[in-house]
Amino acid sequence: MNFKALSKSFLAFLLLTFAALVLVACGGSSDEGETSDGSNEGAETEQSGDGGEKAKYVVGTDAAYAPMEYIDESGEIVGIDIDVVNAIAEEMGFEVEFQNTGWDPLFPAVKNGEVDFAVSSITITEERKKEYDFTEPYYVAKQLILVPEDSDVEKFEDLKDKRVAVQISTTGHEVVKGLLGETSEQILAADTLPVAIGEMINGNAEAVVADNAPVLEYMKSNPDVKFKTVEDDSFEKEYYGIMVKKGNTELLELLNEGIKRLKESGKLQEITGVEVD
Ligand code: ARG
Repeated sequence: MNFKALSKSFLAFLLLTFAALVLVACGGSSDEGETSDGSNEGAETEQSGDGGEKAKYVVGTDAAYAPMEYIDESGEIVGIDIDVVNAIAEEMGFEVEFQNTGWDPLFPAVKNGEVDFAVSSITITEERKKEYDFTEPYYVAKQLILVPEDSDVEKFEDLKDKRVAVQISTTGHEVVKGLLGETSEQILAADTLPVAIGEMINGNAEAVVADNAPVLEYMKSNPDVKFKTVEDDSFEKEYYGIMVKKGNTELLELLNEGIKRLKESGKLQEITGVEVD
């Protein structure tokens, strides 16, 4: 190879290197996706298999609430609520990543954007609606009383002179405050439902009031513990919704559209086993 040919190929090499650099620089900027204009607040984008970009949302939950949300043997967050969100994500073409925030921290996490939305058997209440936005209901539940098998409790009123354990800041907690008083020392407010039930096992509490599904699941998976459940007509129906930051209308509409489609196709009922009226 003579000098001329060598310098020619060197020039070609320089040109190629330059072109590659330009390509990399341009490619990088497209990664910023939709977040720059604020239209898709909080969502990160990811390259999907077909070349399109899928939004990815971080979803907070309190995964100590089987069968709705819990950690399985492999350490994964699973459950009915998780299946519902995964089905919505599939239907609407976005990705999700679940984060076990715990119950009380879940609310500020939604508020300060640490998570994009929350699924955690959250009852839609007037009080919460002042501070958060909720999707259309995807599940209907009721409070249920859990007592030792030999308990004389037959109805909610019978808890008047009892020590009652609840999960803190839940609708169960509210209902029990309604009976025993806002600051009653008969109420044991635990961080999680399993801890509340533990208070009854170790004799600190004489009853637990909580949502029906996790109470029934507890009975099923702990057949050796001698407990029974007591229903009461005064408990109202509670509707679970997915909770987003107030004013995040775009995300709310996306989730609502997903729920609507899953209701229409019958898939929602297939997942939850419950018909939402
Ligand atoms: N439905 C009740 C509420 O909204 C209890 C939900 C608790 N959920 C949980 N994953 N611990 O207050």
